[in-house]
Amino acid sequence: MARPTSRYVCQVCAESFLRWEGQCRACGAWNTLVETLVREPAHARPAAAGSAGDAAAPTPLRGLAEPELVRRTTGIGELDRVLGGGLVPGSLVLLGGEPGVGKSTLVLSAAAGIATADGGPPVGRPGNGAPVLYASGEESAGQLRLRASRLGLTDGPAGDAILVLAETDVERILERAMTVHPVVLVVDSIQTVSLDALDGPPGSVGQVRESALRLLQYAKGEGIPVVLVGHVTKDGGLAGPKTLEHLVDAVLTLEGERGGGMRLLRATKNRFGSTEEVGVFAMGEDGLHEVADPARAFLAGDGPAAPGSAIAATLEGSRPLLVEVQALVAPAAYGMPRRTATGIDQNRLALLLAVLARRAGVALASHDVYASVAGGLAIEEPALDLPLALALASSLRDRPVLPGTVAAGEIGLLGELRPVSGLVRRLREAERLGFERAIVPAGPGGPGERLPDSIGRLQVVSCRTLREAVGLALASGAAQPVGS
Ligand code: TYD
Ligand code: MG
Repeated sequence: MARPTSRYVCQVCAESFLRWEGQCRACGAWNTLVETLVREPAHARPAAAGSAGDAAAPTPLRGLAEPELVRRTTGIGELDRVLGGGLVPGSLVLLGGEPGVGKSTLVLSAAAGIATADGGPPVGRPGNGAPVLYASGEESAGQLRLRASRLGLTDGPAGDAILVLAETDVERILERAMTVHPVVLVVDSIQTVSLDALDGPPGSVGQVRESALRLLQYAKGEGIPVVLVGHVTKDGGLAGPKTLEHLVDAVLTLEGERGGGMRLLRATKNRFGSTEEVGVFAMGEDGLHEVADPARAFLAGDGPAAPGSAIAATLEGSRPLLVEVQALVAPAAYGMPRRTATGIDQNRLALLLAVLARRAGVALASHDVYASVAGGLAIEEPALDLPLALALASSLRDRPVLPGTVAAGEIGLLGELRPVSGLVRRLREAERLGFERAIVPAGPGGPGERLPDSIGRLQVVSCRTLREAVGLALASGAAQPVGS
């Protein structure tokens, strides 16, 4: 068999070239050539692994075999929750996140959980714990060892069951995997591994994609779950994870501030479970810990409310989370005012500033505006509108939001408040955490749900407009002993 070679294929017009060029000569598009492995011509190749040379005959829907999903639990409840119950055999899972957020830590803890789990199906070496193969291209074996001992894994049974391979060549990793028969293969990270047959450096789009394809083949062929770790930068700039998303079965992302302690794990795609679940972790001295009371986890301290802070009752999937939204506004010194949003959609912020100015008398056009979600979270749900608007108004007027207040609600262009989903669930959680007042849109609290006047000790204040909400939420100037 001839050694496979690579071509540079234009992602727009699919023309292929022998060498990389900045512009596609066929269609004129720029920077669209991606190195791709040349496989045997499509017509001469058997359709897919496992099927015969003839095209597969179609099967009636009723006749399709139901896959048997024996999930392998990772021993980390929050991770299993996000995966939909555990790792599915033959699935390819991408764990993405910014550098330093804790991906390797999570994956190593999960590997330990899997390797030492008794419950799983008897694959590998029964009784001895099943091996997990951890291919690390990112860190040397020594660095990995340091992390493992920090997590307390070196002396336990995981110390024997996790097999570390310091290797970046995908084919060699897979050769090893074929002899070791791990129950799970971890590749940390997909940006550091490469295929010999391609010329591009590790981390280039072509390498990342072809390597992932090769690992996918292995996962499906052997029925072994493969976990890929992938770096994404703040602007999603790095080649890789984005191009991988359509290829893998599940995409998990770990977010949180590197310095801060809290981490949120989300599934942004999951073929074997819901994308609604989130997992909450705290990064400690000895690794990631599950958080007992996640709803409270992203709240800042209990100190006196400062102007510019508002508590949002958000819903992450089925899980209510209370998070602090912070805003700081200051008269712009010169030129275009700055608008900086962290964890908040920039366009949404711009829109809210316009609505605040036109409909609620909160004029911020000539102010620099900084807004962020505490704890390094990125929150994209509409219910964040109202707390964000309140934080902005609070900062401008230099009056804190009434203590013990949460808010949730979408804001329309006319300054009207719109209902959000699962409002009662959010409010119950706020009540449980000791909040006294909730400022929410008037109207139903969810599909077919009437909004009560109070939930336990939580008073429900419903408003029709943003102007009304701002008036009710901010403490009156005189009654505020802040900082006293
Ligand atoms: P790491 O898992 O290496 O991140 P990633 O693989 O996403 O790049 O962890 C990064 C940070 O976590 C590192 O700065 C140190 C910190 N950390 C802890 O605080 N406690 C721990 O037990 C470990 C292992 C790491
Ligand atoms: Mg790492």
